Amino acid sequence: APPPRLAGRRLLVSAGPTFEDIDPVRFIGNRSSGKMGFAVAAAARAMGAQVTLVAGPVSLPTPPGVRRIDVRRAAQMRDAVLAELPGHDIYLGAAAVADYTPAETLPQKIKKSGETLAITLVRTADILAEVAAHPQRPRLVVGFAAETQDMEAYARDKLHRKGLDLIAANDVGRAGQGFECDDNALSVFWRDGRHDIAHGPKSRVARDLLSLVAERLEALR
Ligand code: PMT
Repeated sequence: APPPRLAGRRLLVSAGPTFEDIDPVRFIGNRSSGKMGFAVAAAARAMGAQVTLVAGPVSLPTPPGVRRIDVRRAAQMRDAVLAELPGHDIYLGAAAVADYTPAETLPQKIKKSGETLAITLVRTADILAEVAAHPQRPRLVVGFAAETQDMEAYARDKLHRKGLDLIAANDVGRAGQGFECDDNALSVFWRDGRHDIAHGPKSRVARDLLSLVAERLEALR
């Protein structure tokens, strides 16, 4: 039998949301469950890769044989990803990282007072773009794009702007796929190509995505 397609490869994958704390009891989060990134980690391991999983706050078991690092905030996810980067052949960013975080996290619970409350948010670092521009850049950098309209145009813009090799776009405005649920469908774009992965369980979608990743990695030689 031929060796599994990712034998000897080292994959770093991010998964889940980030939680940006406002005060000791409140945070800004998003609807990511981590299921897509965890499915990628499990499928990559089954295909022979050595897998490091950087996980935001999710309630999912660690796939067998996968090394897992738990984080909460976008800044912590960035630090963990950059610390783990050296030696990895592939980075795959499946996490839904916060684009903005509170300018300050208050040490005490905010008390109810006025009729309105304003919280100032500041931009976070773009982990994916930093990985793609890093001196120790993995040979293949794969992003995700969560879109609700004009999927191909927005995904291709992220592909070029962030300096990626591949981008996997999902339509998160459709019921029964994307955030939280067990199924997904992807349209994967690269500079001169496109491959659609049909709707189905995230485990199968992850396997199909990784077959394409293995193919693109082989094409780099
Ligand atoms: O977790 P699930 O419930 O299974 O849902 C799966 C998913 C919908 C979250 C997943 O399939 C997905 O689309 N993940 C990316 C979500 C996202 O943040 O998309 P985006 O278009 O906003 O970001 C584009 C890319 O930049 C992503 O690879 C993201 O990880 C990365 N990014 C974004 C912002 C930031 N500060 N740093 C980043 O690295």
